[in-house]
Amino acid sequence: AFIGETVFVVLGASGDLAKKKTFPALFTLFRQGHLPSDIHIVGYARTKMTPEEFQTRATSYIKPPKNKEHQAEFETALAGFHKILSYVSGPYDQDSGYQDLEKHLREIESKRAKGEKRNRIFYMALPPSVFTEAAAGLKKNNYSTEGGNRLIVEKPFGKDLESCREMMSALKAEWAESETYRIDHYLGKEMVKNLLVLRFGNIVLDAVLNKNSVSNVQITFKEPFGTEGRGGYFDEFGIIRDVCQNHLLQALSVLTMERPVSFSAEDIRDEKVKVLRAIPPIKPQDTLLGQYVAADGKPGYLDDDTVPKGSTCPTFAALTLFINNPRWEGVPFIMKAGKALNEGKVEIRVQFKDVTSGIFTDIARDELVVRIQPDEAVYLKLNSKLPGLITKAVPTELNLNYSERFTDVEVPQAYEALILDAIKGDRSNFVRDDELDVAWKIFTPILHWIDGVDGGEKPKPEPYAYGSRGPADSAAFSARYGFRRTEEG
Ligand code: BG6
Repeated sequence: AFIGETVFVVLGASGDLAKKKTFPALFTLFRQGHLPSDIHIVGYARTKMTPEEFQTRATSYIKPPKNKEHQAEFETALAGFHKILSYVSGPYDQDSGYQDLEKHLREIESKRAKGEKRNRIFYMALPPSVFTEAAAGLKKNNYSTEGGNRLIVEKPFGKDLESCREMMSALKAEWAESETYRIDHYLGKEMVKNLLVLRFGNIVLDAVLNKNSVSNVQITFKEPFGTEGRGGYFDEFGIIRDVCQNHLLQALSVLTMERPVSFSAEDIRDEKVKVLRAIPPIKPQDTLLGQYVAADGKPGYLDDDTVPKGSTCPTFAALTLFINNPRWEGVPFIMKAGKALNEGKVEIRVQFKDVTSGIFTDIARDELVVRIQPDEAVYLKLNSKLPGLITKAVPTELNLNYSERFTDVEVPQAYEALILDAIKGDRSNFVRDDELDVAWKIFTPILHWIDGVDGGEKPKPEPYAYGSRGPADSAAFSARYGFRRTEEG
């Protein structure tokens, strides 16, 4: 961890990510007393703003407490937070902006005791177009020689293996791997972090999580809203780059990796890379693509003015992956992700094999479900005897519902967990360079096929109605890989 003074610089401070995620997370950490006591937070962006305008903007997404008893304490915290915020405006592509930023940082640091370390964390909440320039500008003008430096970056990391490598090597020319923190915010989600404990802290689960017992695994990401307002951005990427190649693959790697030798960041990430390397590239025949159309007064994807006419960009994808290693060989991992669906939910559903012989056959399959959001939960679906004077098995649940079991604990937001990790220097939940590389290897061929990169015709996504469960073939797709629907699946 850094010792001494820390300045946290947020680039892209007037953008959406900073406003919605970064500053609210920093505020919660501040309010809970997790930030170093002498931290200072500096926003940097192109927009010209007074310090007051910036404070208002940076805190506009912070919600007041539900419990009115906490109102006074909240107000005091917010006033305290305003005091540690400041702002510098400038361009991303010219040294002059970074030099102004440097002047400001020195002014803050000059108030500190002599000899104290001057650590700097740079958080880039920036669009990819200025990413490389900003990383270089910071290194040239704002790199602390009197303390440690960290650079936090976030997707998109390129659009395929090649462009990602290009971007990463430009970054590496300036910033060492040990200074670089690549965020995949799903790794900060409580239930994704819980996978490590569930798997390696329970004999009873560890024993069955393998090809002998598991029929198939579904990792599902559903959002009830479309790309409203960010269609232009989305269209360049599509749902696979938006959530599958990163968020869902990260969850899959933690779910399937072998037990790390220790809790150290490198041991954990070594195991994740190992399992990812055992996944061959996804094939077109193991894919189902969809795009939402208008329904019930909600606009279709192509009705969004920011989306190019006739775009074939998928807003829904089902993809099946396989892991060629002794534990998982032959088990289909079905990833499904979509926008504008019937509900908002992210979950992992491990479906076990049938009871094939003996006194109970033709009985529901067991399932282990980890609900990542909303309402974090882990539940195990088991058959049990229906109470009464007959012998009849019914599917039931052993249910660990966070809101019922952990009533006094507030589940932290992903960005809170990750920003704190970055401040502490814990890299376990950040994506390593080789991990990113192998993730792109799995997805690049299918993305090139979808984009018609090699001159082929682009596959047409199946239309599905806004607010529906996805394309009509979605259920049949899962069934093809052995998934058997239970009453709520
Ligand atoms: C982002 C995607 O990375 O993750 C968004 O770009 C998506 O399209 C979001 O909505 C989902 O994150 P969460 O935390 O809301 O599940």
